[in-house]
Amino acid sequence: MLIQPHGGQLVNRFVSVDQAKALVAKAASLPRVTLSAKQACDLEMIAIGAFSPLTGFVGQADFQSICKTMHLASGLVWPIPITLSVNDEVKASLKAGSDAAIYHADGTLLAVIHVTEIYPHDKKLEIPNVFRTEDPAHPGVKGVLDEGDWCVAGPIDVITVTPAKQPGEQFTEYRLPPAQTRAEFAKRNWNTVSAFQTRNPIHRAHEYLTKCALEMTDGLLIHPLVGETKPGDIPADVRMDCYKVLIEGYYNKARTLLTVMPAAMRYAGPREAVQHALTRQNYGVSHFIVGRDHAGVGSYYGTYDAQKIFDEFKPGEIAIEILRFENTFFCKKTGGMASDKTTNSKPEDRIFLAGTKVRDLLKAGQRPPAEFSRPEVADILIKWAQNAG
Ligand code: ADX
Repeated sequence: MLIQPHGGQLVNRFVSVDQAKALVAKAASLPRVTLSAKQACDLEMIAIGAFSPLTGFVGQADFQSICKTMHLASGLVWPIPITLSVNDEVKASLKAGSDAAIYHADGTLLAVIHVTEIYPHDKKLEIPNVFRTEDPAHPGVKGVLDEGDWCVAGPIDVITVTPAKQPGEQFTEYRLPPAQTRAEFAKRNWNTVSAFQTRNPIHRAHEYLTKCALEMTDGLLIHPLVGETKPGDIPADVRMDCYKVLIEGYYNKARTLLTVMPAAMRYAGPREAVQHALTRQNYGVSHFIVGRDHAGVGSYYGTYDAQKIFDEFKPGEIAIEILRFENTFFCKKTGGMASDKTTNSKPEDRIFLAGTKVRDLLKAGQRPPAEFSRPEVADILIKWAQNAG
């Protein structure tokens, strides 16, 4: 039996083909809301049930409760407010109790929102609570600062999440929604599954975490985030090529599933780790990997803050099990991957490479040491770094 979704019920906000036709006809006369890249990711996450139990964008009571206490007003754990913010002009066109049509930036009609509430976007409450900093240089903080001053709440009825003119790779065959992911786990007879969130190529340290986790569960879900990420992060299509060669060469494919999560990164460190865990629970995952500085950026968060935050909840409030990992590295003394927990080796015996050093090597056409990255992965990254990086 797979783990229950967060809140007990998996949400699905897609309408039937007939309902979609009726919504398309109706939308022509409705006020318009055009989504940002982050909001389009959030819409998809709500639609497919990855954000269960949310059925739409949150109202003011939930917003305040989430920011202050990391719980929905109902008392269920929820760490990050999923808001539909709009500017003054759009706000003036909307009315609580009425519907509005939601469009992708390319003009595709995506959904209709049944507006229950329009309330001021309290960024002063959201930013320091969610991000633990108000520094506008933090990419997540900047994202919220740039958003509109009003939030529109209400359930959504979704026609499609696939914009007509989306450029580039869609990862369609890897875009498995929670219900289908659960069905795939059941088909493989996996009762327990560990998941690995990532926004980077998988290097040896990551590989080690995933394999330790797999030793404890029936299956492993490699679940890269492919929604909006900040400039400078490695593009999702390049990463997907890396994941595929790595799994092909170095994993037991019968025990490993690669699919994508279409969420936007917030870089909110600890709170985002909780969000990532609850979301994976909705996908049917029982064990979630949290290593060092999970979902962090720069030096805003302590190395293990994203693990410590789980201790702030009461027992049983979060059903998914958190697999906490120390900072890991290749240890020359013991001849394998290790952490402070498993080796007493000296710093000079440990292979650590800073991100900037790795970039420099790749740009120069050189593979980082095999103890850091598998050569097949390094070669894909070299090609990318030399063309665009
Ligand atoms: S994240 O934004 O998705 O967290 P990244 O893809 O770098 O970024 O990390 C994915 C997961 O691996 C996170 O749980 C992170 O804490 C963990 N991690 C990354 N590198 C290491 C490492 N060297 N040691 C331990 N955990 C790590």
